[in-house]
Amino acid sequence: MKILMVCLGNICRSPLAEGILKSKLPNNYQIDSAGTSGFHSGEQPDKRSIEVALKYGIDISKQRSRQITNEDFEIFDKIFCMDKSNLKNVLSLTEIPKHREKVTLLLKEADPNTIFLEVPDPYYGGMNGFEKVYELLDTACEEIAKKLLNN
Ligand code: 4NP
Repeated sequence: MKILMVCLGNICRSPLAEGILKSKLPNNYQIDSAGTSGFHSGEQPDKRSIEVALKYGIDISKQRSRQITNEDFEIFDKIFCMDKSNLKNVLSLTEIPKHREKVTLLLKEADPNTIFLEVPDPYYGGMNGFEKVYELLDTACEEIAKKLLNN
């Protein structure tokens, strides 16, 4: 099973989502992340994401930002987007139904009844925004890991 986490810059939210989900699943699950933009390609995650992950014992510092490519629709089984804008941008890359079916909002996948559909972009805020994002992602990834391991 291969899962791709997607946000805008691939430096704040999706690197955390990648690190958190990886920490909850065995190694035969491949988890990666990418951005809809290439603004930060090659960069380390934002230092605030690195810091909040480390606080919970997860090292995401080795990750490097990359932009999503069309090949990702072939490689990955599931593509989880952080917000509706990411979802729209990812879906704009392919018209192929079996590829589009792989793409969903992460929070909706974790809890179909949730009213919180989006992981807010913490880039322009302070450290408390990154804490909030961590908590949201940790809860969502716990649900997703449970579902994957029960199937
Ligand atoms: P991310 O956050 O999509 O969670 O990685 C952002 C990172 C960078 C920018 C926006 C959001 N930016 O505008 O550079």
